[in-house]
Amino acid sequence: MPAIDPDLIPADLFPTIEALCATGAKVAAVVARGALGPSLAAGVGENSDGDQQKALDVMADEMFEAALRTAGVRHYASEEQESVLSLDPEGAYALAIDPLDGSSNIDVNVTIGTIFSIFEAAETPEASFLRPASEQIAAGYIAFGQQCLLGITFGAGTMLFCLDPETGVFALADKAMAVPEAAKEYSINASNRRHWQVPVRVYVEECEAGETGGKGKNMNFRWVGSLVAETHRILTRGGTFLYPADARKGYEKGRLRMVYEVAPMAFLVEQAGGLATDGSERILDKSASELHERCPLVFGASEEVERVKALHG
Ligand code: AHG
Ligand code: MN
Ligand code: MN
Ligand code: MN
Repeated sequence: MPAIDPDLIPADLFPTIEALCATGAKVAAVVARGALGPSLAAGVGENSDGDQQKALDVMADEMFEAALRTAGVRHYASEEQESVLSLDPEGAYALAIDPLDGSSNIDVNVTIGTIFSIFEAAETPEASFLRPASEQIAAGYIAFGQQCLLGITFGAGTMLFCLDPETGVFALADKAMAVPEAAKEYSINASNRRHWQVPVRVYVEECEAGETGGKGKNMNFRWVGSLVAETHRILTRGGTFLYPADARKGYEKGRLRMVYEVAPMAFLVEQAGGLATDGSERILDKSASELHERCPLVFGASEEVERVKALHG
């Protein structure tokens, strides 16, 4: 039995999406066994962006790479691999992946996930991935939380699926996710406040001022530390998320990587009626110039994202 209903997936992309879903279900099972299986949170190395790699980062990457070898993918770009791998020379697609997002949450039983972005394959790996984010033909996340969820877009809205652990099938849960307009929550790693630029400080001060400030309403604060979990929350009940550029060395473009974190989330959020920018410019109009390049990210309900943009002048 396929891991997702073929009638809901564009036919050409079905083998790729099926491989992602079947592997996502396997990763979910590994995550669910936690301490009953091999250590998932042990440090095993460092990736090309300088992140510490946990055992589960590497395990998830190996599982997706193996499954995608026979699933229509010509070029495979992963957070956990320095350069692009050639999987199937006949494959029609280029797939970028963050195999395990939120790896600092592995050992504390907090939601983690997988993020992916798909383009038509071009002749070279560079031409396949270093191009406008608006050229993505699909993007999605798999969240390993209370449930295992798949959020996915093919450019005609954002759909939500929930894994039925009894059948191993991702069943449709919402055929058109929509970011609620009235934002009541904001998310930013506030421990970096001293490094922020003025527009970000002002926006956060406005959120904190609540009903006595210019917003005229109280805002709540959330920070999970897993982009997948924050994105799923915002797609479900609204709000804003910021991972801005800041004054720390290495954070001149924030923390998140354009090709396999920022671009796919921007596609999903816009397809659900929200906005995604780098503070000023629309993410989908931007291109990465290197595979692991970072990009500031501000996304969520359009009114809030427009406010951040206005503060940037
Ligand atoms: P990853 O675990 O794939 O490297 O991604 C971590 C990202 C993202 O999930 C989260 O929003 C952010 O890094 C957390 O950053 P801090 O280091 O500021 O906590
Ligand atoms: Mn990482
Ligand atoms: Mn990540
Ligand atoms: Mn990751």
